[in-house]
Amino acid sequence: MTDLNDDYSGEYPICVSGLTNAFGEHLIHEDLDLKVRKGEVLGVVGGSGTGKSVLMRSIIGLQTPSSGEIEVLGRNMMEPEDEDDIDIRSRWGVLFQGGALFSTLTVGENVEVPLKQFYPEISDQLRGEIARFKVRLSGLPDEAAFKFPSELSGGMKKRAGLARALALDPELLFLDEPTAGLDPIGAAAFDNLTRELKETLGLTVFLITHDLDTLYAICDRVAVLADKKVIAVGTIPELLALDHPWIQEYFNGPRGRAALAGKNDPQLEAAAEVSAECAVAAGESDNSSTTGA
Ligand SMILES: Nc1ncnc2c1ncn2[C@@H]1O[C@H](COP(=O)(O)OP(=O)(O)OP(=O)(O)O)[C@@H](O)[C@H]1O
Ligand SMILES: [Mg+2]
Repeated sequence: MTDLNDDYSGEYPICVSGLTNAFGEHLIHEDLDLKVRKGEVLGVVGGSGTGKSVLMRSIIGLQTPSSGEIEVLGRNMMEPEDEDDIDIRSRWGVLFQGGALFSTLTVGENVEVPLKQFYPEISDQLRGEIARFKVRLSGLPDEAAFKFPSELSGGMKKRAGLARALALDPELLFLDEPTAGLDPIGAAAFDNLTRELKETLGLTVFLITHDLDTLYAICDRVAVLADKKVIAVGTIPELLALDHPWIQEYFNGPRGRAALAGKNDPQLEAAAEVSAECAVAAGESDNSSTTGA
C-alpha cells in the first residue's frame, strides 16, 4: 500500500488507499484506491448505489470510513484536526447531489455562509460583494443573489450551488451529479462553465456524473466504480480498450454511442469501434475478465 505520509509534492491532491466503507453489514467499498491528479477534471462513474457519493463524502470528511487512508492536499484526513492546521475545509468547495441550498436564505446569503464561517472578520459589505461576484462567476444574473432557492429553476439552483462552492476560492471542487435534471443545452452550458472555471482558476475537479456528454466534453480522465472498488482510471480511449462488461455496456451501449457520435471525434470513434469488436470477441470466447485500475 502507498505510504500516504510522504512529503506532499502537490502532484496528487487527493490520495485514497485501501478504503473500506460499510453501513452495518452492507459493504460499500472494499480496499478502494484512487489518486486524483492536480489540475485535472476526474470524472467518477458507476452504477447507481455503487458508492460514488459515499466516496466523495469520505474524502471530505463527512463519512468516517471503516478503514483505509485518505490524504487531501497533503493532510491525513483520518487523523483528528490539529488546532494549528489551516482549516482544510476552506480549501475545497462542494456542490452536493441535491443542491443542499438553505431554503430560508437568498442565493447571496447562501454564498455568504462559508465566508462567515471561515472569515468572520470580513465586513458585511465586503462579504456581500464577494458573494455577488461568485454569483456572477457562476453565470447567474446579478439579481439572482437576492432570490430564494424556491424562486429559481433547477439549472439556476445548480449554478447557485456552484457559486457557494466557489465562495472560498477553493483549490479543489467536488461536483456530485451537477447536470442531473438539466436539459441538454443547460447541461452543456454547465459543462462549459466547469471547464472554464477549472482552466481560469486552476482547479482540480472531482466530478461524479452519469452524464456521458459531460464525460466526453470536460473530463481529462474517468474513474470507474464497480465491485466496491475503482476498477479502472484512464482517458476514455484507455477505458474503451478494457473488456470489463460494465465499462463496455456503459460506453458502447446505445447512449454511449450517441454521446460519442455527438463528439464528432474520429479517433474516439475508432477506439470505440475496436473495443466493441474486442468485446464481441471476448463474449464469443466467454472471456469477460475484469481489468484492474
Ligand atoms: N448514511 C447512510 N446510511 C446507510 N446507508 C447509506 C448511507 N449513505 C449511503 N448509503 C448506502 O450506500 C450505498 C451507496 O450510496 P451512494 O449514495 O454513494 O450511491 P451513488 O453511487 O452515489 O448512487 P447514485 O448514482 O444513485 O447517486 C447505497 O446502497 C446507499 O443506500
Ligand atoms: Mg450519488
